[in-house]
Amino acid sequence: MTSEVNTRNGLHFLVQDHLSTSASGAHHFRLMDPDGHHYFGKFQPGTTLGKLRYQNETMAFTHVQDDELEGIVDYVDRDDATHGVILELVEGTDLYAAIEKLLALPVEEKIALLSTVAHHLEGLHSGNIAHGDISLRNVMLKKSYENELHQGTHRRITSKDVLLVDLALASVNSISPYWFFIEQNHGLSGSWIYMPPEMLHSKMSSPAGDMYSFGVLAYILLYGKEPFPMEYGIDHVAYLVKKSYHLPSPPPLDFNGVEELVFHLLNPESRHRPSARETKEKLYEAL
Ligand SMILES: Nc1ncnc2c1ncn2[C@@H]1O[C@H](COP(=O)(O)OP(=O)(O)OP(=O)(O)O)[C@@H](O)[C@H]1O
Ligand SMILES: [Mg+2]
Repeated sequence: MTSEVNTRNGLHFLVQDHLSTSASGAHHFRLMDPDGHHYFGKFQPGTTLGKLRYQNETMAFTHVQDDELEGIVDYVDRDDATHGVILELVEGTDLYAAIEKLLALPVEEKIALLSTVAHHLEGLHSGNIAHGDISLRNVMLKKSYENELHQGTHRRITSKDVLLVDLALASVNSISPYWFFIEQNHGLSGSWIYMPPEMLHSKMSSPAGDMYSFGVLAYILLYGKEPFPMEYGIDHVAYLVKKSYHLPSPPPLDFNGVEELVFHLLNPESRHRPSARETKEKLYEAL
């Protein structure tokens, strides 16, 4: 990466810091525009995969109506075949990075946090968008709440403190060019432990698939461990499908119906999973 980035629409940014590198080879940077405002840039050099990934993300963003999702600023398509997207910078942390603090929260605060994620999923699903990659790393807490978390004050979280990020695997009306490419060239993608079993066959993101991934996230947050043993490694999803798995009864939480809800979210049959709206309402009722 050079120290300057020019976008398709002629916007100009300076690269400030390299933030991280993802498993898929994407590089994440903090950028600055000529007025001194900061942005978040993700770039993948020289691959068709990178191109499709960010085109897919751009397409998904043009359909998003949920104001509380960070906005896309522009798509980058450079002569050296580097592809990327530039987004509004979220000052904060993802749930994965904050997991120790989050696990230490009282159960009702964890349930409140889950209800905010369900709220955002409801917003996406009502616009016919499936996120496709719900995981601890793709849910962000804004700085305002992160500070509270570090101070241990436990203010009740609201949906304004939370954002979903990473629409690279999203699909609009069940169509994702990126997933078609993945199917032909790479088998499956995404974060294995969150992947709904039906994705083994469908290779498409779907609202019901998001609810399964949300169930995995909820299980981790509420019980401090992953719902299924991972000794099967990358064949995990195949294992779940073949064994028509049984989730061990979750230990009671003393919160009206929440363990049952998590159990239903992890149902191998996608049609039996509660929707984002039902999930949000059940979580509100429990509080
Ligand atoms: N707009 C944003 N502002 C600040 N940080 C962000 C933003 N979007 C994402 N992040 C952080 O950067 C990480 C990587 O972003 P994202 O998941 O969108 O990229 P990715 O290239 O698809 O990565 P991966 O392949 O690891 O999923 C996220 O886990 C999150 O911590
Ligand atoms: Mg991600």
